[in-house]
Amino acid sequence: MKILLAGGAGFIGSHTCIELTKAGYDVVIADNFSNSKPEVLNRINQLTGKEIPFYQIDVADKAALDGLFTQENIDAVIHFAGYKAVGESVEKPLMYYKNNMDSTFSLIEVMEKHGVSNLVFSSSATVYGIPKTVPLIEGMDTGCTNPYGWTKLMNEQILTDCAKANSSLSIVLLRYFNPIGAHPSGRIGEDPNGIPNNLLPYITQVAAGKLKKLGVFGNDYDTPDGTGVRDYIHVVDLAKGHVAAIDYADKHKGTEIFNLGTGVGYSVLDIVNAFEKSNNIKIPYEIKPRRSGDIATCYADPAKAFNVLGWKAEKNLDDMCKDAWNWQSNNLKGYDV
Ligand code: WQD
Repeated sequence: MKILLAGGAGFIGSHTCIELTKAGYDVVIADNFSNSKPEVLNRINQLTGKEIPFYQIDVADKAALDGLFTQENIDAVIHFAGYKAVGESVEKPLMYYKNNMDSTFSLIEVMEKHGVSNLVFSSSATVYGIPKTVPLIEGMDTGCTNPYGWTKLMNEQILTDCAKANSSLSIVLLRYFNPIGAHPSGRIGEDPNGIPNNLLPYITQVAAGKLKKLGVFGNDYDTPDGTGVRDYIHVVDLAKGHVAAIDYADKHKGTEIFNLGTGVGYSVLDIVNAFEKSNNIKIPYEIKPRRSGDIATCYADPAKAFNVLGWKAEKNLDDMCKDAWNWQSNNLKGYDV
């Protein structure tokens, strides 16, 4: 079975490529390197021992995508392609709506043209908006606080409607919590452009001496230590969730939503302490004002993914901190060699 990874050169796509290959799938990657680097492909080929077919295209480009589907015998698609910086989405909403929706339109249209029915979509816990209660369960209310989040929720709606109209479609919507860590080999990992927005890449860059100190965004939340609580999940566990989702999509029709998280929440200071302990490196930090749009607490109820997909996260916070630092310390410039 051959799987197209749209946006497959990114952080989650690259790890999913490794896990799918390990599970015996053939994989094709399409990416325009808007937020990734060509070097990741060399690393993937080294780790898999295979030459993974690659198409440098924008998946919103329907003609290019059609050419790929004509060339390759694609059986299923995982759609990772999209912009993902929350703050940037507030400043450039049209850019986000256009990019993140157009890629889905062209993917679905080209899939239908070529008789491909199975799609797994990268959604996000951000679609739960400001949670009324935690843990978050798939059937709970949704609503977003920024354009990035809305593109995820709108994509979920569009794909659900497409599956209602075309009974041969099988859509799996995966709501990721906070993916961190890296492949244990230290060869692939997260390589953000510029100053990182997310917590773990920021911490690893402080550890590497590239940034002076971490700013902790608020210590007056209604949480045990006052800092924000999130459900951090190792990216290799997350990647394995996609393998389970692809298996599921092959056996079922219609739309299904799954949380991919661990079910455990850690605060910002828990993460700082765990990172220091796992790697024996001090992370200087200072308390800063709250970051606009942040919520106090967010963690998953991952029971549905376990009951239906047979998937659960296996790695712990120590693995996440060690693997994140192993990647960063061995690749101080990320994929720039
Ligand atoms: C985690 C915690 C911050 C940086 C975002 C998106 C989400 C998903 C993942 C993906 C929060 C605190 C962070 C820093 C800090 N999108 N923090 N200092 O905001 O939970 O989720 O990224 O691509 O849709 O919303 O993740 O890692 O930015 O923050 O104190 O320098 O760390 O306030 O409590 P978040 P994050």
